[in-house]
Amino acid sequence: MQIPAYLVNEQFDDRYFDVVNALDEAQQIYFSNNHLLERIQERAAAGSRFIIGETGFGAGRVVVSLLEYLEKSGLKNVLIEYHSVELHPMSPERMHDILDGFKERAGAEINTLIEAYRRMDITMPGWHCVSVEKAFGTIELNLWIGEALEMVEALEKPCDAWFLDGHSPKKNPSIWRPELMAEIGKKTVRDGTCSTFTVSSSVRNALGEAGFTLQKLPGCGGKKEVLQGTRR
Ligand SMILES: C[S@@+](CC[C@H](N)C(=O)[O-])C[C@H]1O[C@@H](n2cnc3c(N)ncnc32)[C@H](O)[C@@H]1O
Repeated sequence: MQIPAYLVNEQFDDRYFDVVNALDEAQQIYFSNNHLLERIQERAAAGSRFIIGETGFGAGRVVVSLLEYLEKSGLKNVLIEYHSVELHPMSPERMHDILDGFKERAGAEINTLIEAYRRMDITMPGWHCVSVEKAFGTIELNLWIGEALEMVEALEKPCDAWFLDGHSPKKNPSIWRPELMAEIGKKTVRDGTCSTFTVSSSVRNALGEAGFTLQKLPGCGGKKEVLQGTRR
């Protein structure tokens, strides 16, 4: 199938995501495979926050999918601290165009994300933070504009879950390099998790070295298998 040009990140000659089922894909790979709902629910009951790290903010599709997932969950009093990094931030107009295909399903969530994104000055490198209030609670959206390793090193608190979504390892090996995976391992709580769409052996080796116990799980869309890890 011909990939629409607007979905391709010209910096890496790779698409941001699979256009057909990208919201469902995020829900399976990043949320269900990490038992996110149960874990977030436990934190909400205890009145504490759940911290997520993401490599590759892109068009924010994972955030849209997370907003939709939490809206539908019926959970209340949720507090998510979401940290994502992006080396080449796109304009809000391009984000709008890329996400437009999901507007029937998640129009309100897309508007929420783009409104929050517009509140950040993406011409400035470094840390940007915007809070989003929804019926389920609050997402504190932290966008780090710059190189992924710099963000991970700068994180003050370890994450509960990592969403690794930085283009295919063939097209963009730098975002999977062992040095970065090791830092992600250090910035993960005990029994914290990571997940990704790739089962490439170089990624599995680097995550294994970083302290994650890994398993391959059934994939979705065009992917036969995906990867999930738990920090031991
Ligand atoms: C597959 S896309 C992410 C898609 C995104 N999660 C979404 O749902 O829309 C990968 C992103 O990682 C960014 N990226 C690639 N290498 C990076 C690096 N070394 N540091 C920070 N961001 C990087 C790319 O610019 C791209 O936007």
